Amino acid sequence: MEFEENLLQAVDIARQAPSSHNCQPWKLVHIEDRRMRAQLLPAHAWPEHEQLLLLGIDRQRTLRALPSLTLEMQLSCGMFLGLLSAAFDALGFHCNWHWLDMLDTQAPAAMPFLQSLEQRYGCRGLVLLALRPQHVPDATAFAGLQDSVRQRRTHRAPFAEGSCSDMVLAQLLERNWPEQLTGDQLHIRVERSPAFIARAAGLVRQFAALDFSSYRAWKETYRYLHFDPRKPAEDGFYLHSLMGPMSPLRTRIMQCVLAPEVMQVLRIVRVPHNMAAQLAALVEDSAQLLLCSLPSDDVASTVMVQAGARLMEVWLNAQRLGLALHPLSVMLQHDRARGELQRLAGGDRRIVFFARLGAIRQRHGECLRRPLAAIIETHGETV
Ligand SMILES: Cc1cc2nc3c(=O)[nH]c(=O)nc-3n(C[C@H](O)[C@H](O)[C@H](O)COP(=O)(O)O)c2cc1C
Repeated sequence: MEFEENLLQAVDIARQAPSSHNCQPWKLVHIEDRRMRAQLLPAHAWPEHEQLLLLGIDRQRTLRALPSLTLEMQLSCGMFLGLLSAAFDALGFHCNWHWLDMLDTQAPAAMPFLQSLEQRYGCRGLVLLALRPQHVPDATAFAGLQDSVRQRRTHRAPFAEGSCSDMVLAQLLERNWPEQLTGDQLHIRVERSPAFIARAAGLVRQFAALDFSSYRAWKETYRYLHFDPRKPAEDGFYLHSLMGPMSPLRTRIMQCVLAPEVMQVLRIVRVPHNMAAQLAALVEDSAQLLLCSLPSDDVASTVMVQAGARLMEVWLNAQRLGLALHPLSVMLQHDRARGELQRLAGGDRRIVFFARLGAIRQRHGECLRRPLAAIIETHGETV
């Protein structure tokens, strides 16, 4: 099989990764140009038969309305990288990851070449993925991965009752992906204590209205909402996948109510606070919360991308165990809310991902994704 076919198969899996607002901020450049490869990595790191991919954050798809979204973009790309690497592994490739924020100290001569690629393809580079055919493809592993990835969805509805056993939680946190990919910095805690969950729900009630209070941030979010299910879309989400099925009339009303300008007015009558209370009620009814943290506030992009890959592994484990996640990023996007949550968690670690975790009652939600051709670029041989 030609490498291009493998690449399409792997990206078809990776593009199912979750991302903030389903903005899918990833860009992948296949570097076919041998001279460019030689400039980017020292010769010993890329034997002739290796393939080289640059994963970056697509500048045109980056969410920017709040500073914390930079971390979410890196986390989302890490999730994409996790799935991409798992897919290539099942296709028989050995993967090697060269992290770009280390490149300027380890190989400064490569920087101008990297920058020219970034400029040409409109992305901010995160990692170079070197791939070498190594073992026989594992069709069963690939089909299993494909199946889990298609089934996994963000679950915003109430979960089934009952909390997970210790054994299930141990399986949830099982590590099978290499540490070179997932790093060792992300600490994942599953909180089952009813007292903790009630206090976290209280914080959500207090702070979740912030989602609507920044006009700029809400305007950016609103762009990703689709109200007409008959109109095809490639990113964002349909309203009914966020709020459940609703009549065309109610959809129309919600379209008006949620419009950023209208929302500014509705703040006066506390509509955002009512929505925050609904989210808090969901949190209160959850049997588990997932808190993922890093040792400090000073987070390098590599650490964040590795954290994303590790989270992807856990999210897939959850899917295979009949569990699902519902991230609650509003609590991390505003310093005061995050500070209170970190205080509740009893530590000075930086929380980078916070979600409800529970058993799926009923699977729903479609998967809007961009086509493969919009994700992959090829940097061919230059004459
Ligand atoms: C870093 C990150 C933050 C997210 N934050 C939220 C959130 O605050 N609320 C929410 O409902 N979904 C959140 N999501 C889930 C995305 O909206 C979801 O992944 C995307 O819409 C694609 O849908 P899927 O996960 O069902 O494939 C987040 C996902 C990621 C990766």
